[in-house]
Amino acid sequence: MTKTFLRSVLTLLLVAGLNSCSDMGTDPKPPVQTPNAPAVTQVFPDSGFVGDTVFIHGTNFGTAQGSSTVQFGSVAAAEILAWQDTAITVKIPDGAASGAISITVTVGGSESNSAAFTVRSVVPVATISFAADVEPLFVSYGCTSCHGGTNNLFVDSYAHLMAGTSLHGPVVTPGNGEGSVIIQKLRGTASFGVRMPQGGPYLPDSLISKISTWITQGAHNN
Ligand code: HEC
Repeated sequence: MTKTFLRSVLTLLLVAGLNSCSDMGTDPKPPVQTPNAPAVTQVFPDSGFVGDTVFIHGTNFGTAQGSSTVQFGSVAAAEILAWQDTAITVKIPDGAASGAISITVTVGGSESNSAAFTVRSVVPVATISFAADVEPLFVSYGCTSCHGGTNNLFVDSYAHLMAGTSLHGPVVTPGNGEGSVIIQKLRGTASFGVRMPQGGPYLPDSLISKISTWITQGAHNN
């Protein structure tokens, strides 16, 4: 009698046990143990600008953020977009130092390994001046000696330069440096004629790019 009773209790327990296994949602939480330290295995992408989204992959992040934190160097991420045990989606926080930094995840006071990350900085592009940066090049590279009254194009003043030629129209297209005829002539990529200055010596790439940037910035009479 007792044996049978015990057996049915055991069977009940077993069935209950099996049931609870298949019903993860209502499973009682295991006793709280010291959590395994979080570990970062991959950060994607490995560089970005402030405000960009970054995916941090790893283990033991916990199923929800709670009091856990993500550090970008010395600055904690303020915007967490998603938090899972093996992945966190986060925005690069304002104030994160630019350059090479470390990302760490801290869960329950336990800090992960450091993952290398580069915060890219927006380098302000200097404004190129026509009078100070561009026009002197037309003189020093001899453009004005041929284009100051001959060859249809005049590069001796802003107004003349912008007027272009009667043959091919404007040589400067404000807002589009590389698409401008004058840049294509300087690079030797124009669909007509020869590379300028005719016969050389040609401008180094850095100076052609400077003129191109001035045009892309609007080709102002600045
Ligand atoms: C030795 C004389 C000479 C020099 C120096 C010279 N050019 Fe020219 N350039 C010409 C001749 C000739 C043409 C017309 C034939 C051609 O397009 O290749 C021309 C054409 C051009 C055109 C095309 C104009 C059009 O028809 O749309 C541009 C733009 C131009 N030159 C810019 C320059 C610039 C900028 C410089 C200085 C860096 C320069 N050139 C120096 C002789 C010269």
